[in-house]
Amino acid sequence: MARILVTRVMPEGGLDPLVTAGHEIVQRAGDTPYNHAELVAAVVDVDAVVCLLTDRIDSAVLASGAEGRLRVVANVAVGYDNIDIEAAQHLGIAVCNTPGVLDETTADLAFLLILSASRLGSEAERDVRSGAWKGWGVRQYLGRDVHHAVLGLVGYGRIGAAVARRAAGFGMKVLHHARHDTGVPGYTASLDALLEQADIVSLHVPLNEDSRHLIGARQLELMGPDAVLVNTARGPVVDEEALAQALHAGTIFAAGLDVYEREPEIHPRLLDAPHTVLLPHIGSATQATRAQMAQMACEAVCAVLDGNRPPNLVTS
Ligand code: GLV
Repeated sequence: MARILVTRVMPEGGLDPLVTAGHEIVQRAGDTPYNHAELVAAVVDVDAVVCLLTDRIDSAVLASGAEGRLRVVANVAVGYDNIDIEAAQHLGIAVCNTPGVLDETTADLAFLLILSASRLGSEAERDVRSGAWKGWGVRQYLGRDVHHAVLGLVGYGRIGAAVARRAAGFGMKVLHHARHDTGVPGYTASLDALLEQADIVSLHVPLNEDSRHLIGARQLELMGPDAVLVNTARGPVVDEEALAQALHAGTIFAAGLDVYEREPEIHPRLLDAPHTVLLPHIGSATQATRAQMAQMACEAVCAVLDGNRPPNLVTS
């Protein structure tokens, strides 16, 4: 029997694999994250950690775990930029994530943002709720058509491909940019060329040093004043200051964001930017998907502790 730290209360059924395996679960009560010092202390005497993307598992946390008996960290998220992978690798601690199970759910949300940003859903609803809407008007809330538009996907992993499948139903022309030729029709080697051609750009790249501020002032300018930007990937992929400026200046038409550079802080100029839909990082937030993500993380923990290699291992 191993001792597993679970950093938050998980969706119902999420810890089933740990329970079935008979492991001892040490769980943080409630929804507030450990602060850094608490996390460093909490990993001292556990074999595994099941954590969330809001837990910063840096080299100090990993070193503290390694001084004890920590063998595996499983992130209940597909992105793992919150974990120092190099340090984990160095200390021989396995890191796992949750690829695959959230693709369709996240693609649904990307499409919600594509539609809502293009059709000005948020500000139209705000006006209805506030009483500012005084009746139908022929020049009100004039958005951009999604059907038959050119969709530019930046990143073409499982989630990008799932968004492309949805776009087919809207008769969209889909282009995608990835670091390597995907061999799939629509592949566009030059990011600049994709940004110039797309009416709507949706981001599906992981956050790393290559993708940080991938979309900045120059890229927004290439997209042009009729373009819509959607980000369900990671906030720092977009230079928020540049985006806020472009939205206020009208040099980009609209934006739909689910992720932010400094969550939960939102850039103040995004909060009052026109044509902007802001969601609180809910890409994978359905009951079924979140439970599956937690289960997948727990299964990976069990596999590593049993001496097996889980398919969702991030470290080598
Ligand atoms: C969510 O953002 C995830 O990476 O799973």
